[in-house]
Amino acid sequence: MRARLQFQPQAGERKTAAGAIALAAVFAAALFALAMPSAVLAADIKAGEQKAQVCAACHGPGGKSANPMYPILAGQPAQFTSTALFEFREGKRKNAQMSPMAANLSNADLNDLAAYFAAQPAPPPLRQTTPANVAAGRDLTVKNACIACHGAKLLGQQQMPRIAGQFQDYLRAQLTGFKAGTRADMDGTMSSAAQGLSPQDIDVLADYLSGLPTQ
Ligand code: HEC
Ligand code: HEC
Repeated sequence: MRARLQFQPQAGERKTAAGAIALAAVFAAALFALAMPSAVLAADIKAGEQKAQVCAACHGPGGKSANPMYPILAGQPAQFTSTALFEFREGKRKNAQMSPMAANLSNADLNDLAAYFAAQPAPPPLRQTTPANVAAGRDLTVKNACIACHGAKLLGQQQMPRIAGQFQDYLRAQLTGFKAGTRADMDGTMSSAAQGLSPQDIDVLADYLSGLPTQ
């Protein structure tokens, strides 16, 4: 079953001078929505295309970034993208460039943007895995159950991102961040998964994953 998370439009939509308690309530409500995959609202890909114009400056046209500083958004599951934007908006996930971009997005914006990027085909990988890491990388994804969550081909599903064909440096930085607790993680499952990885495992995985086909 392919569940789709959609954030409910808020009454009056924008945040007011909401305090910590209100923010916690918003987050709790979103987690509740995660547990309710049937909460599907119409997301508008056309509207998402309009709203995504400002994103292209960094993430490239259609989210097909060719600059390793900015992750590829094209072809990511909608539920992952809307959740990531939510985490940035609520200040749970922080990045000096990205946080301000998410700060004023409404819940409808999250859904429309996520639907738009999910509809863009992911570009093919920009590099090849070092031959020595092909088998070692595959073994690590089995041993650490990466394939159980991110899918057999690591193409992502529901709130789990596609990690096949993402930039090597970005993958390394995120895995290191999950392990250190500096990259936010919606429900803690990814941080747990990263705990057993050595820095060398992370290097092998970043090399392996970045060379995998994206379709
Ligand atoms: C000024 C540059 C910039 C702009 C403009 C920008 N972003 Fe980002 N975005 C980033 C950076 C840098 C990251 C990586 C943050 C990190 O390392 O955690 C990021 C990360 C993301 C992620 C997380 C992806 C992942 O795989 O973890 C999403 C989703 C995202 N951006 C969506 C958007 C959307 C939607 C827009 C337009 C509304 C946008 N971004 C505009 C710089 C930008
Ligand atoms: C129990 C499920 C689970 C397992 C096992 C798991 N992941 Fe994840 N992973 C997630 C979820 C959920 C996210 C999204 C976290 C968030 O942004 O809130 C994620 C995010 C990521 C990201 C960030 C990608 C991006 O674009 O931001 C990377 C990289 C990643 N996982 C790699 C791995 C690797 C490598 C393994 C195996 C060592 C693994 N994951 C195992 C659930 C899992």
